[in-house]
Amino acid sequence: MARKIIIDTDPGQDDAVAILTALASPELELLGLSVVAGNVPLPLTTANALRVADLAGRPDLPVHAGCDRPLLEDLHTSEVVHGDSGLDGSELPPPSRAATPGHAVDWLVATLAAAPERSVTLCPIAPQTNLALAIRRAPEILRAVDRIVMMGGSAFYGGNASPAAEFNIFVDPHAAAIVFGAGVPITMIGLDCTHKALMPRWWLDDLVALGTAVGRTVAGMMDFNERYDRWRYGSEAGPLHDPCVIAYLLAPDLFGGKDCHVAIETGSPLTRGMTVVDWWGKTGLPANAHVVTEVDSDRLFRLLHERLARYG
Ligand code: RIB
Ligand code: CA
Repeated sequence: MARKIIIDTDPGQDDAVAILTALASPELELLGLSVVAGNVPLPLTTANALRVADLAGRPDLPVHAGCDRPLLEDLHTSEVVHGDSGLDGSELPPPSRAATPGHAVDWLVATLAAAPERSVTLCPIAPQTNLALAIRRAPEILRAVDRIVMMGGSAFYGGNASPAAEFNIFVDPHAAAIVFGAGVPITMIGLDCTHKALMPRWWLDDLVALGTAVGRTVAGMMDFNERYDRWRYGSEAGPLHDPCVIAYLLAPDLFGGKDCHVAIETGSPLTRGMTVVDWWGKTGLPANAHVVTEVDSDRLFRLLHERLARYG
């Protein structure tokens, strides 16, 4: 039976690739998308999620708009990386439909409340505001969650939103603190891993060679993303963040890491959103996350290509 997942997302080009990969993978049953403000404001992330569902041929997929700002912090967006639309580099038409009625938090609560015990994997690839509010609203829903597999944080790599913090956690550190304190098994795929998932040229070229709308769109979006990464990091190839979450669900053996206690800095303006990873067990606190720091990049991109090639 397919693994039931929910993706919480702020598309975002890399979010789009994660969603497309999930929808091309029969091992996974994507119950729907809960959308949050992050890379760009909520109206745009919602429209982008709908556009990606259209591209995947899934106008039936539930797409619920959620929180338009963090729990306490002001919204911090990332047009410098993703462009004003959030999907720059793509040429997707406007959405064919409006968002599914109902706030994303209400949908998360209702869906998980009706789900069997430990039957759903939550995949936040964005600031975790929706998830945090759902947990606060109805903590009993956590019994339906088998694991939270997230893109976010950083153990040793430093930050991409500040010197100390990765974007998803930086934007809403209070939400992340609620999620990491929820007592649900977590897999944290952060920058230590994703900055080893550097997009090879052959991957982008092979996507174009597919001659499909998905291939062209993904290649165009990733080319757009890479211009920023080349400037910021001086690297020829850009890191691919969110699809690592879906690849982990499909092939966890591609990844490596360690169970650690992770705490979130919420009080310091200097280090807000830092994931304080107790890699060496200095605190004696029990591990609350499997922190992923390694990936077999070549096998990762072969897997992603194989799935994206399934679109006609
Ligand atoms: O730091 C990378 C993360 O921030 C990714 O989820 C990307 O989409 C942005 O949201
Ligand atoms: Ca994202």
